[in-house]
Amino acid sequence: MAQEKVVLRAQGLRREFTSGDTVVAAVKDCSLEVSAGELVAIVGKSGSGKSTLANLLSGLDRPTAGTVTLLDRDLATLDDAEMARMRAQEIGFVLQKDNLIPSLTIEENVAAPLVMGGLKLSVALEQAREMLAEVGLDHRAGQWPGQVSGGEAQRAAVARACVVKPAIVFADEPTGALDEENGKQVQEIFHKLVSTTGAAGVIITHDLDLAAGADTVLTIAGGSVASMERKG
Ligand SMILES: Nc1ncnc2c1ncn2[C@@H]1O[C@H](COP(=O)(O)OP(=O)(O)OP(=O)(O)O)[C@@H](O)[C@H]1O
Ligand SMILES: [Mg+2]
Repeated sequence: MAQEKVVLRAQGLRREFTSGDTVVAAVKDCSLEVSAGELVAIVGKSGSGKSTLANLLSGLDRPTAGTVTLLDRDLATLDDAEMARMRAQEIGFVLQKDNLIPSLTIEENVAAPLVMGGLKLSVALEQAREMLAEVGLDHRAGQWPGQVSGGEAQRAAVARACVVKPAIVFADEPTGALDEENGKQVQEIFHKLVSTTGAAGVIITHDLDLAAGADTVLTIAGGSVASMERKG
């Protein structure tokens, strides 16, 4: 992986939260790099700072100190419009659950990022259906999120996160609300889509089997990088 282009670089990240008189650093001294095509698993105990870190890396949240550089752009230097563009075109995100907009069909959900990017609805829907076929959900395209299973909803969420072919896709415990079999399917689909789109993938997980399938395992403890193991 070392020869691949670095997509994301974090240097000296720190994120403090204040509650009353106390300041807690949920993330501190975090530095890391993710390359194109690399799949990184972030593991660590509950409360260790994994979600806080992913939110900083994906531009959902701003660090108290340190920098996040995505595609050679320091996120702190982007204005709102540039940040919105970066988030829409280069960053995918999958949450543990409730990713889909309930008032849109499955195919409309997957098409939404394309439509927001300016694509004609009919073309966007066509591309969305191709993406749904890749995750084995072509037969669910016209249904509502409330009509599909949890595992199917997560597979659609992965399809939506990857549909614009972003540079990097984040998933924060995407299999956390699923049983083992559905979790495995979602995991495989995440790996497959991330690798076929050439994106980098960052997946937070409690599942050590899932983490073992990644190129790199980043262990977070007390808000810091405790270890970073690269395969191969
Ligand atoms: N918005 C917030 N305000 C105050 N404290 C917060 C906030 N978000 C996170 N924290 C604190 O920061 C620490 C890290 O939280 P975080 O959610 O990043 O952990 P995590 O590793 O994702 O845990 P889990 O595995 O349970 O999802 C925790 O102590 C948490 O209480
Ligand atoms: Mg979390």
